[in-house]
Amino acid sequence: MRITVTVDGTSYTDDVEPRTLLVHYLRERLGKVGTVVGCDTSNCGACTVHLDGHSVKSCSVLAVQADGSEVTTIEGLARDGQLHPVQQAFHDNHALQCGFCTPGMIMQSIDLLADNPDPDEHAVREGLEGNLCRCTGYQNIVKAVRDAAHHMRPGAGPEAERVAGADTGSRTASSVGGGGE
Ligand code: FES
Ligand code: FES
Repeated sequence: MRITVTVDGTSYTDDVEPRTLLVHYLRERLGKVGTVVGCDTSNCGACTVHLDGHSVKSCSVLAVQADGSEVTTIEGLARDGQLHPVQQAFHDNHALQCGFCTPGMIMQSIDLLADNPDPDEHAVREGLEGNLCRCTGYQNIVKAVRDAAHHMRPGAGPEAERVAGADTGSRTASSVGGGGE
């Protein structure tokens, strides 16, 4: 089946098998290896991307379901060489160890902050409950999300203005969840 999908600001038209998962299309066809596969069974959240502005586990979506849509991956977050504030906050708060969960954590965190710009600890933990981390114990991840919320608040300065409504861009992301294998 032929699909046209915009990924990280670039439009792609491709023929795909009806059974191709979005995560496999992103990684294998487009080379977006910053989006990783942790389980393939919708449990870990490592493959989380944004589909039309909302987070989805891309191992639970078919590529054909993204036809006509806009997808943002971890690789599309940074702008003009600047990390997205959530990426920056993960860096600043040491919210990763092996980093495998980090792309999904960051994509889910951005969606969470779009719904609730000032979440308390409980709200962060609840918002990230579909994303598993085997390394950090989650403490610094929660801190990072709350720190990002602080920096993204309206009136928080040029950084907040820069990301208001923005969901795509270029890189520097590989150092904070944009790498992958
Ligand atoms: S790889 Fe998609 S949820 Fe684990
Ligand atoms: S940092 Fe290793 S799984 Fe989260």
